[in-house]
Amino acid sequence: MTQATTRVSAATLARRLGPPTGAAGQPAYRMLARQIRSAVLDGRLAVSTGLPSERELAAGLSLSRTTVAAAYAVLRDEGWLDSRRGSGSSIRLPGSAQPGVRRVAGVFGGLDAHLPPDGPPGDGPIDLTVASLPAPTDVLPKVLIEIAADVGQYAGQSGYHPLGLPALRQAIADRYTATGLPTTIDEILVTNGAQHAFTLALLELSVPGDRVMIECPTYPVALDAIRAARRTVGPVGASGFDRYGGSADSDDGAWDLDLIRAELRQTAPRLAYLIPDFQNPTGAVMSAEMREQLTHAARRSGTMLLVDESFRDVPFPGSPALPPQLATFGDSTRVLSLGSVSKSMWGGLRVGWIRAAAPLVRRLAAARALGDMAGPLIDQLIVTRLLADPEPIFDQQRTRLAAGAAAAHAMLAADLPDWQATTPGGGASLWVQLPGPIATELARLAPAAGVLIAPGTRFGPDGTMESYLRLPFTAPPDVLRAAGPRLAAAADQAIRTSGAGTLPGWLT
Ligand SMILES: Cc1ncc(COP(=O)(O)O)c(C=O)c1O
Repeated sequence: MTQATTRVSAATLARRLGPPTGAAGQPAYRMLARQIRSAVLDGRLAVSTGLPSERELAAGLSLSRTTVAAAYAVLRDEGWLDSRRGSGSSIRLPGSAQPGVRRVAGVFGGLDAHLPPDGPPGDGPIDLTVASLPAPTDVLPKVLIEIAADVGQYAGQSGYHPLGLPALRQAIADRYTATGLPTTIDEILVTNGAQHAFTLALLELSVPGDRVMIECPTYPVALDAIRAARRTVGPVGASGFDRYGGSADSDDGAWDLDLIRAELRQTAPRLAYLIPDFQNPTGAVMSAEMREQLTHAARRSGTMLLVDESFRDVPFPGSPALPPQLATFGDSTRVLSLGSVSKSMWGGLRVGWIRAAAPLVRRLAAARALGDMAGPLIDQLIVTRLLADPEPIFDQQRTRLAAGAAAAHAMLAADLPDWQATTPGGGASLWVQLPGPIATELARLAPAAGVLIAPGTRFGPDGTMESYLRLPFTAPPDVLRAAGPRLAAAADQAIRTSGAGTLPGWLT
């Protein structure tokens, strides 16, 4: 299967490359080749991206055409570029049979390889693969008692609500309306979490072979769902380590609007999956301007947007207000908002939702019945009660997350000072740049050191981002502190044994 290629302009490429790096005195063509390789390896440029012509890039970077030609030749010789007469050069990974197709051992070893350990809590290694908080204390036990009366009201009925419990749908619609996005009950479908919402929309609104644009890095289970459904992944580089994760109210450096526009215009993906609020894993926040322009570009390319707002309710206390929801800029026949209480309340409550135009909601409800008929009534009753007064719960979880982020940063400073981490204003994880391309080896060695981690490669489709890992800060601070020496021990060993040299050219 040949992959569609999005060709980037010289200006877009220059922005994604950032300033030249490498040893002083290195020839300019080697520096350029190195910059392009690094951008691919850390997710700023997706595999399969088409590069500008030599002439265009030379003009755009104020380099001679000979320099660009020599850089492309180096990359081609090392297996990083695929060049075809008449169709230009596109990025591939060394060792892959086709551009954009490379499976890294141990990373895509089957979906069951990604299941969390199944044992009694507190047993076994510290699990830093799951970004999930414990349940809110105090409130949950109280609500469990209160819903005994609610259950009585419903027990005389069938208990099936394929669209979701009306009281809950109303409560969710009211929250959207209160935050500036007028919403009626018939525009809400209750699902079993945000992942269920995504897979349901994916399966109903696209067919096998359709292209789905994703941010790279992105939430890996969504990526798994796209692949399992045989859709084509259209990754758009959404990294750029030094350019996001600050305390500002948006971090547009993570996304590149020109790159996204090029992908939309040139490949017209059927769907695009976006996480604009405390993106998982980078923690970046998309600005209002970019939300608006992206929505317009998607309308022009006929792309429906699936906007995952799982982390929208968990900014840290005191951080700036988030930009308006992306759906504010589009209409609900084309922009679907996916929500969940799993991050703002508790993952054990399997309640999420889709906000979409009413006819779309009915269509999705009919499709969901094929899988589970309807969501669990008891969970929905609990969440209905919790949403009646959600702020104390959100505050508790936000405070826990902020304390977790501070503990994770302190742990890195104490035990792993050469690891660089983002400083997000909310969400549940840090995106960490390692001192070299050791993430897979580190993840392999970490369990023996008593800790589990997810390597950066897990967050993209191509096995790149080998110098990154996601560090959730949802564990209690003392657990995060205890993880430090274990990670340091595993990292020491990974640096010695990693196959960093297996990606040709990394060290040139
Ligand atoms: C961005 C994102 N979407 C969806 C999910 C899954 O959420 P849920 O438990 O609501 O299905 C997660 C969980 O980590 C997530 O990070």
